[in-house]
Amino acid sequence: MALIDRIKAKARVDVKHIVLPEGEETRNIQAAVKIVKDGLAKLTLLGNPEKTRQVALETNTDVSGLTIIDPATSDRSEDYAQALYEIRKAKGMTIEQARELVKDPMYYGVMMVKQGDADGLVSGAIHSTGAMLKPALQIIKAKPGMKTVSSCFLMEMKDKSFGKDGVMIFSDCAVIPNPTAEELANIALGAADSARSLAEMEPKVAMLSFSTKGSAKHDNVTKVQQATAIAHELAPELELDGELQLDAAIVESVGQLKSPGSAVAGHANTLVFPDLQAGNIGYKLVQRLAGAEAYGPVLQGIAKPCNDLSRGCSVDDIVATVAITAVQAQG
Ligand code: ACO
Repeated sequence: MALIDRIKAKARVDVKHIVLPEGEETRNIQAAVKIVKDGLAKLTLLGNPEKTRQVALETNTDVSGLTIIDPATSDRSEDYAQALYEIRKAKGMTIEQARELVKDPMYYGVMMVKQGDADGLVSGAIHSTGAMLKPALQIIKAKPGMKTVSSCFLMEMKDKSFGKDGVMIFSDCAVIPNPTAEELANIALGAADSARSLAEMEPKVAMLSFSTKGSAKHDNVTKVQQATAIAHELAPELELDGELQLDAAIVESVGQLKSPGSAVAGHANTLVFPDLQAGNIGYKLVQRLAGAEAYGPVLQGIAKPCNDLSRGCSVDDIVATVAITAVQAQG
């Protein structure tokens, strides 16, 4: 069974409540209908119900079974404003600003998740990555024990000899532009969690670089070496090795040659890139040139699941992201 079908099957077992803040947008509306019909999640769309119904009518979509909440008139808004004010007052937010902000579906949706009225959030078909990330980072924050929220892509290769039956985790490809060594170690731990919870595989984590075990000397290499040491300290049981070049990480013969005795080299299923430029370019190369399926970015290390969509996303992309978010919400 394909990875996304396994994730959807898991989502159906323990149905979670996901909020879509972009509830007046055509693809979100069409995806919502599909998701509810497929039993993947309980859904709430945010927006003006009249507007949502009008958009649905134009595309012949029946939204009669969907819950639509208008943040501008919701009777939960005052509670959310008070809670938001409490969370952000130390940062200078006033109650008036909080009341204004929760009228914005993005903030309202994040507050639904924060207050336990929804289990997760999916957004980004019309908003930038930053527009969704900022409220999620400011309000929901990193999960206990994690300092850094980051992201991964679930990659499904055509060549099933890589990773676990072709499935690999690539991280971080969307959040932290230039991580410190400590942040990079946190990215590795978040990616290991994602490997277990979403890909159901025991992670073998490669800390990638242009150097393998000191073959090159540069500040960028030193950072990956330091991150490797920190990750070993934070999670001594985790199978993690670095610094490794990509070929040493995923090709057995090269791994044995360059990092003999390593349990990870040559068999890595979880790739941690040294920075966002490498990670973002890396996943797109594999997606475009090798024809891999790429699901994400999936936020990891966050206290409750919130996930971003690409603005070019399709209805099926939204359905898949909601299923992934629902599985993350299962814990
Ligand atoms: N983990 C945990 N908390 C964080 C993180 C993080 N990675 N980053 C920021 N925060 C917190 C900050 O501590 C701050 O909290 P506070 O206000 O309570 O003190 C809050 O989030 C906001 O921080 P800012 O510094 O205002 O936010 P910043 O300007 O750093 O923006 C963002 C954060 C939006 C994640 C930024 O790093 C960013 O834009 N990243 C790149 C996103 C992107 O464009 N990705 C590529 C496209 S996606 C794709 O191609 C798939």
